[in-house]
Amino acid sequence: MSTVREVHSLDASDIGRQWEREMAVRVMTAYVAHELNHPLGTIINLTNILARRLADPVVRAKDISHHIQNIKAEAIRATSVIRNMRMLTEHKPPSHESLNLIDVCHDTIARMRPIARAKQIRIRFEIRTALVRVRGVKELLETALYNLVINSIAALEDENTASRLVTVRILARDPTYTAIQVLDNGIGIPGSIRDKVFEPFVTTRPDGSGLGLAIAGDIIRLHHGRVIHQRRRTGTCMEMMLPQE
Ligand SMILES: Nc1ncnc2c1ncn2[C@@H]1O[C@H](COP(=O)(O)OP(=O)(O)O)[C@@H](O)[C@H]1O
Ligand SMILES: [Mg+2]
Repeated sequence: MSTVREVHSLDASDIGRQWEREMAVRVMTAYVAHELNHPLGTIINLTNILARRLADPVVRAKDISHHIQNIKAEAIRATSVIRNMRMLTEHKPPSHESLNLIDVCHDTIARMRPIARAKQIRIRFEIRTALVRVRGVKELLETALYNLVINSIAALEDENTASRLVTVRILARDPTYTAIQVLDNGIGIPGSIRDKVFEPFVTTRPDGSGLGLAIAGDIIRLHHGRVIHQRRRTGTCMEMMLPQE
């Protein structure tokens, strides 16, 4: 009863604001959980590899230290997730750092290669423009790219195509915008969700959260850019356009 009375004492705009706040908290919590899963999953994989290497008869110090460095880098990434996600949900403009998109792509691909290799998927990187500088937050742009590439990997997993390939391509769209494209020859985006893939919680995967593209979209908008997707003969092309520096 008391809840009913409480609700009646609120006017429509209060309820609207309360609902918005609740949605914001729900989306924020889901974002943080979604983004923490990447570094934590990688840390678990790397510690498993490390444990196996340490059990080998010959332990190579260089190899071990390489894995430890990667574990540390992922742990640092995890600590920055909450700060970065807050920037998104509170629409705080990113601290404008001058970035080279080649570094953004290169570093993300390096992190994802082991995941792709485990599924017999190749990642190819193509640079088709010299206009590669933008302003933004490197970690956030890497997160956006990671979310696109991981979707391409998932789209290729159940495909019986002879060559499973994800291409990351940098190209100039016009004299003001540079794009990062992620192309795959996977299953393609199902027609039923084609116009709403960037909305939160839209997914066709049994274990999906429907947040990867929503987060990527928010990140690119925060950088004054745009994300679109196009159907390919086989597969999908996702494209993030960013204003050049
Ligand atoms: N490269 C792709 N190929 C095919 N389908 C895709 C691709 N990227 C996204 N999708 C579709 O869009 C949906 C939403 O993607 P996303 O927001 O990353 O959430 P999730 O991966 O958790 O399902 C996916 O469930 C899938 O149906
Ligand atoms: Mg996803």
